[in-house]
Amino acid sequence: MTLDDQVRAAVSAVTDPELRRPIGELDMVREVSVDGTSAHVGIVLTIVGCPMARRIEQDVRDAAASVSGISEVAVDVGVMTPDERRALTEKLRDGRPARQMPFGPDSLTRVILVTSGKGGVGKSTVTANLAVALAEQGLRVGLVDADVHGFSIPGLLGIAPGTQPTRIDDMMLPPVAYDVKTISIGMFLAEGESLVAWRGPMLHRTINQFLTDVFFGDLDVLLIDMPPGTGDIAISVGQLLPGAEVIVVTTPQPAASEVAIRSGLVARRTGQRVIGVVENMTPYTLPDGTVIDLFGSGGGAEVAAALGTTADDGARQDVPLLASVPLSPALRLGGDTGRPVVLDHPEDPAARAIIDLARTVAHRGRGLAGRSLPMRLT
Ligand SMILES: Nc1ncnc2c1ncn2[C@@H]1O[C@H](COP(=O)(O)OP(=O)(O)OP(=O)(O)O)[C@@H](O)[C@H]1O
Ligand SMILES: [Mg+2]
Repeated sequence: MTLDDQVRAAVSAVTDPELRRPIGELDMVREVSVDGTSAHVGIVLTIVGCPMARRIEQDVRDAAASVSGISEVAVDVGVMTPDERRALTEKLRDGRPARQMPFGPDSLTRVILVTSGKGGVGKSTVTANLAVALAEQGLRVGLVDADVHGFSIPGLLGIAPGTQPTRIDDMMLPPVAYDVKTISIGMFLAEGESLVAWRGPMLHRTINQFLTDVFFGDLDVLLIDMPPGTGDIAISVGQLLPGAEVIVVTTPQPAASEVAIRSGLVARRTGQRVIGVVENMTPYTLPDGTVIDLFGSGGGAEVAAALGTTADDGARQDVPLLASVPLSPALRLGGDTGRPVVLDHPEDPAARAIIDLARTVAHRGRGLAGRSLPMRLT
């Protein structure tokens, strides 16, 4: 290989942090020339002012400089023409027409909705940590924050307020936090705008847009943090993603269990499959042995048992209690600071429970296990 070729190979292997593919494959390397020991590299980015421009430029510089025999590197950064951008978005869609939802029945991505009956049971906290733990275990993970009233996922993952998806024509690239491609309904709002007043059809359109125009690429798992309850969003998502799996989050107290059961039943009615229950805020033990028991215990098992009994369509589902996550100051603090406890303090009991949950979810696969089996009693 000539020095030119070596530099080209090194530079082409640099990954675009948003698109997650080598820039060579994305046709972003324009020209490479070497004169003596100095390399000159021209790259083109998707849009002017691409937020990742500086990082890509630096990575390209480092890659070129790592080739032995090169001591000086100059990088020219340009911008793609509209035609080049169109070619790129087509390539990324991989033959799929624009405006077609990529998570239909043929998709290999597992879509998992995280729901709850009551608000404030820790659904978003569990979902954010679960997403990060799954990514940490090597899965390609996307996370959609579909909570109209409380979009809290960006904060939980330390994404700065005001962060927007990068747009390439009508394609939107989700910000990536801790290896999780994250998109929130909050990123679509103008400052001070609130979605609370939006009506059903508008919400439906927005959710559809999330799922269609946001480029997640090939994902193993797409998690969706649902708003509490069984309102318009739950119905829209049910219609858009009829094949989704559902995890129901509840606190251990009986009052929470009842609504949690209802939300699980509604999900099943739209054809979704409840794969299990996560009980959050179970008792925790202080270093001196004192047990702090705020919400009692047993609610999670109760919800799992109720959802596992025969439904109105005669189908029986095995609904396990997937995890019990104890009350944890570290989990709460990690949420407040945007540093997920599963990464910062994996030894924390709540972190351990969520890391185990991620392992269980990852290993369940998409097979038949847990799929509803008709078992009519005659
Ligand atoms: N296991 C836990 N231990 C301690 N605090 C927790 C735990 N789980 C959640 N929290 C805290 O409880 C509060 C509510 O959590 P979170 O926002 O995740 O709930 P939610 O179900 O998503 O709420 P909403 O219904 O508003 O969407 C947060 O302050 C969070 O830090
Ligand atoms: Mg929430």
